[in-house]
Amino acid sequence: MNYTPLRIATIRPEKTLTFDLFVLFKDQYLKYAERGKFLQHEQVAKLRVQKIARFFILSSDEEAYLKFFSEIMNEAMNCAKTGLDDKATIISESVGTAVDLMREDPGSKNSYRLTQQAAHGLRAMINSNPEALKAIFGKVAPTDDIIVKHSMNVAMLSTKMAELVKCSEAEIDNIATAALIHDIGMFQLPGSGALFSKKQTQLSPQEKVVYKSHIEKAVKLLEGKNYINPAIINLIMHHEEKLSGNGPLGFRKLGKLEEILSMADCFDKKITANKMTKNEAIKEFMLDELGNYGLELMNAFKKMVRALD
Ligand SMILES: [Fe+2]
Ligand SMILES: [Fe+2]
Repeated sequence: MNYTPLRIATIRPEKTLTFDLFVLFKDQYLKYAERGKFLQHEQVAKLRVQKIARFFILSSDEEAYLKFFSEIMNEAMNCAKTGLDDKATIISESVGTAVDLMREDPGSKNSYRLTQQAAHGLRAMINSNPEALKAIFGKVAPTDDIIVKHSMNVAMLSTKMAELVKCSEAEIDNIATAALIHDIGMFQLPGSGALFSKKQTQLSPQEKVVYKSHIEKAVKLLEGKNYINPAIINLIMHHEEKLSGNGPLGFRKLGKLEEILSMADCFDKKITANKMTKNEAIKEFMLDELGNYGLELMNAFKKMVRALD
């Protein structure tokens, strides 16, 4: 039997399960709760104390989970009783689950559909809960989760920026989804966490070649699938390109969305990978990236990021 991992915060207490839930204990999958039942608040709290980070479902139940997942995101956003911290956790763990699944099974249509739903939920949150956006952006991720956190930050920043410059609805949906999976190629590289944490100037020539390959790897994982919009693959292919031609592929012409995605990626790497404060990142961004992006867009981006306090 095949199992699909889920982050535990995506299973809300007192919400009826539409699938069986398992935990992994000593290499064995044990049934933890049955479909039709729900988890109690105390059970979930206990799991957190026990540091159980993942539930599992049978892969044949993914369809049921997709529906459950979308309801969780909607409820998190619209429930007045759910506090800001809880909202931020539910949204970020839902997004984390989607990116985890794309990492583990990038060829799966369900993983991709979940990512689209997560991107959509993130976008709705940006519009309706700006405070939750600030809370998620400000959260520090564990070391083994920094690429997922980076992907989420890039999705939030690029989506918000695309909204500000009045991109179309379809374009904003595309940039949100592309941002969530733009670095899935990184997961295929040995020592990806260490490579990701270094600045470009700290990489050896050999490391630079390996690092650059994450872009091609991501494109290879996604292309040729009829359910993935080619515009999304195109965005992912160009996510580190700069107008100066200093990106890995040396492109000098970028569409508006490509420029926004690259800008959000470059800025958040300073924060998530290089551990700069927001103010340090803004300062370095405005100095080092001059010429890499349009000045007007850079200034608008700076203003938007400053407001995230
Ligand atoms: Fe990248
Ligand atoms: Fe990135």
